[in-house]
Amino acid sequence: MNQGQDRVFIFDTTLRDGEQAPGASMNEREKLEIAHALERLGVDIIEAGFPVISKGDFDSVKSVAKHIKGSVVCGLARSLKADIDAAADALKAAARSRIHVFLATSKIHMQHKLKKSQEEILQMAVEAVKYARHKNADVEFSPEDASRSEKLFLYRILEAVIDAGATTVNIPDTVGYATPAEYGQLIADIKNNVPNIHKAIISVHCHDDLGLAVANSLSAVRSGARQVECTINGIGERAGNASMEEIVMALKTRSDIYGCMTNIHTPEICRVSRLVSKYTGFTVPPNKAIVGNNAFRHEAGIHQDGILKERSTYEIMRPEDVGFTGTGLVLGKHSGRHAFRARLKHLGIDLSDAQAQQAFERFKRVADKKKQIFDEDLVAIVEDEIKAVEKTWSLVSLATRSGTNIKTEVTIVLKSKTKTYKKSSSGDGPVDACYKAIDAITRVKGKLLDYSIHSVTQGKDALGEVTIKVKFKDKSVIAHGASTDILEASAKAYVNALNKVVAPTTKSPGK
Ligand code: KIV
Ligand code: ZN
Repeated sequence: MNQGQDRVFIFDTTLRDGEQAPGASMNEREKLEIAHALERLGVDIIEAGFPVISKGDFDSVKSVAKHIKGSVVCGLARSLKADIDAAADALKAAARSRIHVFLATSKIHMQHKLKKSQEEILQMAVEAVKYARHKNADVEFSPEDASRSEKLFLYRILEAVIDAGATTVNIPDTVGYATPAEYGQLIADIKNNVPNIHKAIISVHCHDDLGLAVANSLSAVRSGARQVECTINGIGERAGNASMEEIVMALKTRSDIYGCMTNIHTPEICRVSRLVSKYTGFTVPPNKAIVGNNAFRHEAGIHQDGILKERSTYEIMRPEDVGFTGTGLVLGKHSGRHAFRARLKHLGIDLSDAQAQQAFERFKRVADKKKQIFDEDLVAIVEDEIKAVEKTWSLVSLATRSGTNIKTEVTIVLKSKTKTYKKSSSGDGPVDACYKAIDAITRVKGKLLDYSIHSVTQGKDALGEVTIKVKFKDKSVIAHGASTDILEASAKAYVNALNKVVAPTTKSPGK
């Protein structure tokens, strides 16, 4: 940290508020992997979930608490004993833990949702904070919908919860209603009107309903907030939360304005962004600030000319400072094992010898079809080959027969642990036919809810990465598959989805 600069704590809520985004649910293993990535990124506090809400959430918080030692691990709780007990239980194994208690304080919420008076709310909040404090030394309190709450009541409740033991007070703009000047003023007013505010850290938590979450958070920092709650890629409830990468890079790039620093190791940013996108199934728009594919690409001739002469003509950040690797050519089919492994290492991917060998064989197969292998291809290969879930089923081959006037037919060969199966099926297009053939072999029927494909790099021979959401009975899963052949990528994604829900074969598959 530079001398004279204040520290802003980064509180990441990707695994809690981020996961509340419709369709973004992640399983325990995926959450833990993201938590490790956030820890490497240098996040101060990881909000890992809302333990009372479901067994899945409880187990995920427990697992993050057990494994993450470099960040404080936090669990959310309403101002109810049962919620606080669940949070405290889930956090037991944490090296450092926080209980985050919330209760709405706006007239709208108190009257219509909670049906309680100001006095009742004040008492509930104080009791909840005291109870949480007796379970855990680090307690955060959030007056939900603070930005629409009556200011005098807000000051009273903040003073009372700090007296009761809250060490952080968070001021949520729950519905993304505030504007930057107004929200900055709110933080300044809190600083000036809550007598014991110096005993707590002021935190901010902004939603993006008007596209102002980052601007509001930064305005609050200018007014003295020293914790920002945010999510990777800005995912979250409705329009999402403030995007972490934007907050962190704005504080870093414009430290002349904000005079603040974070502990974030920024070269990790793109990697974490990609991981979150992969597990939530939410693709990052190409023009997204900091992490979008076009964020550091220059198209106009005048810009390219400027960049070649002096990068700072059109670049205010260095791509390497956010881990943007670009599409520099790195490897080809003549590249050997050492170059392959060294490049993976450079990308922060550490594999065991056996995994490296497996990934290298796949790399060679891809390099036979695709002349130029870019960093993005390498990441996709490793994720597709190594990080796929334990395989009950794997794809051996597929063949397709289609044409303008003939019904598409796809023949699939799948392998279980013990046997190989072959089935043909026709359908409404090749992907449908392919999925029907897989269903016929495995006798597990999936319903495709969502399908998207993106090109990992550019060019006609690019690797295509297919992301799908499939429902098997009552369980929905997101899965991915990558290949230079998009039908093969589609089949792999479907088999990966299937492997996430089936236990090693119990049913006898179709002959
Ligand atoms: O948006 C909100 O108010 C919240 C609270 C639980 C902090 O997410
Ligand atoms: Zn929120």
